[in-house]
Amino acid sequence: MSRPAPSSTSRPQAGGRSFRVSVIGTGYLGAVHAACLAAAGHRVVGIDTDASRVSALAGGRAPFHEPGLDDLLRTGIDSGRLSFSTDVDRAADRDVHFLCVGTPQEPAGDGADLSYVWSAVRSLARRLSRPCLVVGKSTVPVGTAARLADVLGATAPAANGVRLAWNPEFLREGHAVEDTLCPDRLVFGVTDEASNLELRELYASVVPRSTPVVRTDLATAELAKVAANVMLAARLSVMNVLAEVCEVAKADVGDLITVLAHDDRIGRDFLTPGLGFGGGCLPKDLRAFSARAAELGVVEPTRLLAEVDAVNLHQRSRLVDLAARLLARREGRGTVAVLGTAFKPGSDDVRDSPAVDVASRLQALGARVRYYDPKAGESTARVSPELERADDAELACRGADLTLVLTEWEEFRALDPVALAEVVACREVVDARLALDPDKWRAAGWAFHGLGRGSAGA
Ligand code: UDX
Repeated sequence: MSRPAPSSTSRPQAGGRSFRVSVIGTGYLGAVHAACLAAAGHRVVGIDTDASRVSALAGGRAPFHEPGLDDLLRTGIDSGRLSFSTDVDRAADRDVHFLCVGTPQEPAGDGADLSYVWSAVRSLARRLSRPCLVVGKSTVPVGTAARLADVLGATAPAANGVRLAWNPEFLREGHAVEDTLCPDRLVFGVTDEASNLELRELYASVVPRSTPVVRTDLATAELAKVAANVMLAARLSVMNVLAEVCEVAKADVGDLITVLAHDDRIGRDFLTPGLGFGGGCLPKDLRAFSARAAELGVVEPTRLLAEVDAVNLHQRSRLVDLAARLLARREGRGTVAVLGTAFKPGSDDVRDSPAVDVASRLQALGARVRYYDPKAGESTARVSPELERADDAELACRGADLTLVLTEWEEFRALDPVALAEVVACREVVDARLALDPDKWRAAGWAFHGLGRGSAGA
């Protein structure tokens, strides 16, 4: 899913109206959004309750891995157009307020936890004493915006002068800057023409003139993001069903993908099977959508989505089973090298990471797990301190009875199986992401197992 890299030639020069903007919530979404708006000439304050995050951002450092963000932060701060604060009062007199707080899965349910959204809106609303536009970007269950509009109307001193719009984000981690500056579409969920025009004017200096803009009502805009993620999740689970059948039928899933990708109706992106999807969005959006649909009385049809989730989680279990079978000769207690713990390459995020889940389960079964990830070492150590961390792939593999490639970093595709064969105890590798060249590894003396390939589990 590569998009043209943003460049000064692909974007109109800033020069239109400079808006005074607040961005509430400075995680992956908010920090990137704030920095990109400032780069386009708007004056932006990013607000967050997390003082250490605010301090990092104010110092020009992103507290997570996102290519291009550090440069934008520094440029924005140096220009005087970008600042960060824990003080919501700093947002009070802005023209436009973007809500970018997280909506994680509820601790004890499938629905979205909206506590950050409500807390941000209540705190902001009582400070809004002049007309302004509040724009939701957070992913929320359909119907939330209408309730937020009521609260704004009832609480804000400016009352009806405060308008609400919904403008969902579609950012991929690791590509968030390019996805913000060159989005494939913008969605403006609005209830009045003034809000539509204001959003158009604000984005005119941020994105290319050719960017499609879809104007919708609030509910459709709320659904737009989650609908995309539900479609993507379903596609991946279908691919994983096909891959498992390939494995049993001794068919080649790589060739099958090539054939599917030639069909224009299917396209070539999001077709790679393996360990399945994870991260802070797809799994929780899928569940939150079903939970909201059930609240609305749509129950039977969402069984399909429960199966999408189950097929996805099944990939993790079947890899754990395969690894346990391969370690049987060590009575399950062998040393396992895990290459890759991030939920996907290009990110240091391990939220709902299939790789961390598999590693932890193998360790719980008695294996000694040593992992290496090019970017997610620290975040993995925070969530799974029981796992042993290595500083590079070779150190992770030293003395390993089994090597698992769980995230498809380029660095792992480029590994030399001949050199690695010298350091492991047993030349046995499972490629759970279709990242390696089986012929090359077999030629170097490895027993090669590819999830979805005819030889897995052989
Ligand atoms: C996703 C959506 O793509 C983005 O539009 C939305 O705003 C947030 O959620 P992100 O979570 O960054 O973005 O990751 P994405 O690149 O979509 O990958 C999601 C998961 O699917 C990852 O775990 C990835 O490894 C997996 N995946 C992706 C596959 O297993 N196979 C593929 O072919 C593609």
